[in-house]
Amino acid sequence: MRALLFFLSRQESLKHLILRFGPFRRAAWRFVAGEKLEDAIRAARAANAAGMRASLDLLGENVHSKEGAVRARAEVVAMLDTIRAEAVDCNVSVKLTQLGLDLDPEFCFQNLREIVRHAAELGNFIRVDMEDSRYTERTLELVHRVRAEHENVGAVIQAYLRRSEADVRRLLEARTRIRLCKGAYLEPETVAFKHKRDTDENFVRLMQRVLASGVYHGIATHDPAMIRATQEYAAAGRIPKGAFEFQMLYGVRRDLQRRLVAEGYNMRIYIPYGRQWYPYFMRRLAERPANLGFVLRNLFRD
Ligand code: FDA
Repeated sequence: MRALLFFLSRQESLKHLILRFGPFRRAAWRFVAGEKLEDAIRAARAANAAGMRASLDLLGENVHSKEGAVRARAEVVAMLDTIRAEAVDCNVSVKLTQLGLDLDPEFCFQNLREIVRHAAELGNFIRVDMEDSRYTERTLELVHRVRAEHENVGAVIQAYLRRSEADVRRLLEARTRIRLCKGAYLEPETVAFKHKRDTDENFVRLMQRVLASGVYHGIATHDPAMIRATQEYAAAGRIPKGAFEFQMLYGVRRDLQRRLVAEGYNMRIYIPYGRQWYPYFMRRLAERPANLGFVLRNLFRD
């Protein structure tokens, strides 16, 4: 089922058919704030009111033209201005294939640099999401380059990748902020752990590395076992609750989000919005095929 969902997520021709399917669209709104920036700002404001921070993500990946990448850059810059004008506690996540990584890495670097520079002027922060393993090396390279000029940019590390321990070491040498997650793509066994147990063990090892570094990092998971391991490690090492943050996805485990805030932990909600929600939604289904239940329940509401 997982492999089928990943396969469907990459089928451009099927995508248009599936997108016309009403129940599927409605189910997506559990994980996506809406198609417009104002929808995302509303969701971020609601998160703030519940004691949580947010990270906005303009959905879109693998743009096919430089014009598309320039448009995405302009939208992200405008998003940063709106966040400032609306005074929401919120940073921004970007994907490099949306900024032209497939087309020309140097052009992509200039787009990312422009966004990070603008965010620096506004006192905001840019998180560079991590895509599939074909992009890992190039993504980290561009983050390192921009980080050499600006402090307000961070990377994402996927615990399922075998290379991640070395990547964490290099990022920590530069004191770059890391979001640690398990990883959301279908990867070959040559580059990624196959069994959940191995990924979880690596997650805990990397979590300990990053928390011990004294830099402010994000622990991005909904897995109660990973959260417990983080809480225990922080408590044992006298790492204050305010020295790191948990991060979760919009629409996932809202109960746990609220509980951690009530216990005094920092929580950031990743809020995606925009018209290009299809691959994002398919990854959420693939992570937990039981989510297909949402689609089916919407079917019966028709
Ligand atoms: P795991 O998959 O083991 O799930 C643990 C529990 O969480 C499940 O039993 C279920 O209760 C709940 N859960 C998890 N996923 C769910 C879903 N889709 N729907 C409903 N419940 C669900 N990945 C990546 O490759 N690059 C990136 O840049 C990011 N960025 C990112 C940001 C943030 C803030 C988060 C939280 C996650 C990411 N991810 C990501 C996704 C991440 O790699 C991973 O795929 C998901 O978080 C699911 O893994 P968990 O750690 O939650 O554990």
